[in-house]
Amino acid sequence: MVSQEIIEKSARIVSGCRHIVALTGAGISAESGISTYRDSGGLWDRYPEGSSGGIVAVMTRHPEDAPQILMGFLNGIRAARPNPGHHALVDLERMGYLRAVITQNIDNLHREAGNSRVFEMHGNIYRFRCLECGKKKIMERDKFFETFERFIPKMKRFSFEEMGSHFPTCPCGGNTRLDAVAFGEPVQDLNEAMTEAGACDLMLVLGTSGVVYPAASLPGIAKSRGALLVEINPRESALSDQCDLFLEGNTGEILPLIVLSLKEIMVKEGGV
Ligand code: APR
Repeated sequence: MVSQEIIEKSARIVSGCRHIVALTGAGISAESGISTYRDSGGLWDRYPEGSSGGIVAVMTRHPEDAPQILMGFLNGIRAARPNPGHHALVDLERMGYLRAVITQNIDNLHREAGNSRVFEMHGNIYRFRCLECGKKKIMERDKFFETFERFIPKMKRFSFEEMGSHFPTCPCGGNTRLDAVAFGEPVQDLNEAMTEAGACDLMLVLGTSGVVYPAASLPGIAKSRGALLVEINPRESALSDQCDLFLEGNTGEILPLIVLSLKEIMVKEGGV
């Protein structure tokens, strides 16, 4: 666990910044009970083909196991709620420090926590996109899980065509697909994410192994434009060498301590 001295040092860095951006990965949702990908026991640790081909490769490789793999993944997200790490980022936004969250996560937890500017580079699991007109629509959480529960457990052998036949039809009459980005597809909100990375004076690098691009290029862009990089992770990542400060631990524990220390600084400086 990090020392109080490092927590206070991080809070002082935050207090001196005015355009903070958070780059988050699966690690920030780990304390909400959602499996990460590359940790031991993580999704790609259990299904190595996922590391280069994502969930599509896993479903294709294990069609007979796919229904319960998919339901396991969905049940993890269904049970998940924002954790203290997500809420600390909302505090930083409401205190006027955090301007945007750029996330690789598709679990919608940053939006549910209350952050107002969230750029979801890998899409959002609850959002459907029309294959004809491109219109996007978020499905209400309970309805989303009911939709999948109606047919996935009954599937003997997984098929994307069959899964797609249960998705909502767009008002234009087009079929829809999940608006989550599959490996090899273009990411979403890339321009907005690059703009934020180039404009920030501090990037918080939270819970990512930093091995998937273009998201992993964002800290380098921020640094090249003079921003500081502060990383929180229980272990070093591929981005740690670029970071100015590395706090070893869980975002759900460390971020709230930084916010607490920041509030003390604000009181001392008469900011509140
Ligand atoms: N707090 C902070 N970090 C944590 C925590 C925690 N409680 N638990 C785990 N971590 C860290 C791990 O040490 C690891 O560095 O989170 C990181 C998770 O790494 P990955 O599983 O690789 O997830 P991520 O970096 O988000 O993967 C990026 O890869 O497969 C694709 O689309 C998928 O969006 C995902 C992308």
